Amino acid sequence: MSGDTASAGPVLEARNVSRTFGSVIALSDVNLEVRPGEVVGLVGDNGAGKSTLLKILCGALQPSSGQLLVRGEPVTFHSPKDSRGRGIEVVYQDLALATELSIVENIFLGRERRRAGILGRAGFLDRAAMARDAKESLDSLAIEISDVEARCGLLSGGQRQAVAVARAVRWGSRVLLLDEPTAALAVMEADKIGGLVNEVASQGVGVVLVSHNMPQVHQLCHRILVLLRGRIVADLRRDEIKVEDIVMWITGAALASR
Ligand SMILES: Nc1ncnc2c1ncn2[C@@H]1O[C@H](COP(=O)(O)OP(=O)(O)OP(=O)(O)O)[C@@H](O)[C@H]1O
Ligand SMILES: [Mg+2]
Repeated sequence: MSGDTASAGPVLEARNVSRTFGSVIALSDVNLEVRPGEVVGLVGDNGAGKSTLLKILCGALQPSSGQLLVRGEPVTFHSPKDSRGRGIEVVYQDLALATELSIVENIFLGRERRRAGILGRAGFLDRAAMARDAKESLDSLAIEISDVEARCGLLSGGQRQAVAVARAVRWGSRVLLLDEPTAALAVMEADKIGGLVNEVASQGVGVVLVSHNMPQVHQLCHRILVLLRGRIVADLRRDEIKVEDIVMWITGAALASR
C-alpha cells in the first residue's frame, strides 16, 4: 500500500453491523474499514460470520442493524446491483462466471457494446472492439490467457476467478470482495490469485479477502480481522504478527490466555 492511499479515508465501512437469522446471531456489532489499496483479511472458523458479512457489504443480505458507508457517505444496499453502482464487486468461487459463454461475453455480460445501426436500430454487437477491450483488461492485470473467445467452462478454477476479478476491475470497481477465492485451487493457482490481489490493490482498489488459507492471508493482507462467533475479536497488523497468532485468535485461545 503506498503512503498516500494509506492516509486516505475508508472507501467502504461497516459500523456496528449486526445480523440475526431467527434466534441465530450471525454477526454482532461488527466494525470494518477498507481503504483504497488496502487488502483486509477476514478470517474465522466455519460459521463465524464471514460470508454473512461479505453478503451484507455487497447488498445480497441486509443488516438487522448498523450502517454501511461508501467514502464516508451512509448507504443502503437492497441488492448487489446497488453496491455495484457504488463500485463494489463481489466474487464468489462458484458463482463467478457463466460457463457456457466466452471470456469476452462474460466480461461484457449485460454491458454489450453495439455499433450504430442503420435507421436508428440498435445495431450489431461490436465483437472486435469487445475482444480487444477484454484482452486489454486481462493484460492490465498480467493475466495470461491468450484466447478471449474461449468458453469459460474450459478454463481452470483459478483462471475463472481471474477473469471475474478482471471484469470487476474493468467496470471501475473500487472495492473487491473475495469469498474463499482459493478454496478449491491448486497451490500454483492460489499463488496466481495472490499475485492478482496484489496487482489490483496496487491500482488503488480496496480488497476484503475471506480465506481459510492462513499463510496466504498473512502474506497478502495488510490487516487481518478475526471473527469469532459473529464478533470481531482481533484487528491484527500483518507486520506485527505471525501465522500462528492468527490461528490462536481464530480458535479463541488468544482470548482465553488474556
Ligand atoms: N440464510 C441463512 N439462514 C439461517 N442461518 C444462516 C444463514 N446464513 C448464515 N447463517 C448462519 O449464520 C452463521 C454464520 O454463517 P456464515 O456463512 O456467515 O459463516 P462463515 O464464517 O462464512 O463460515 P464458513 O467458513 O464455513 O464459510 C452460521 O451459524 C450460519 O448457520
Ligand atoms: Mg463462508
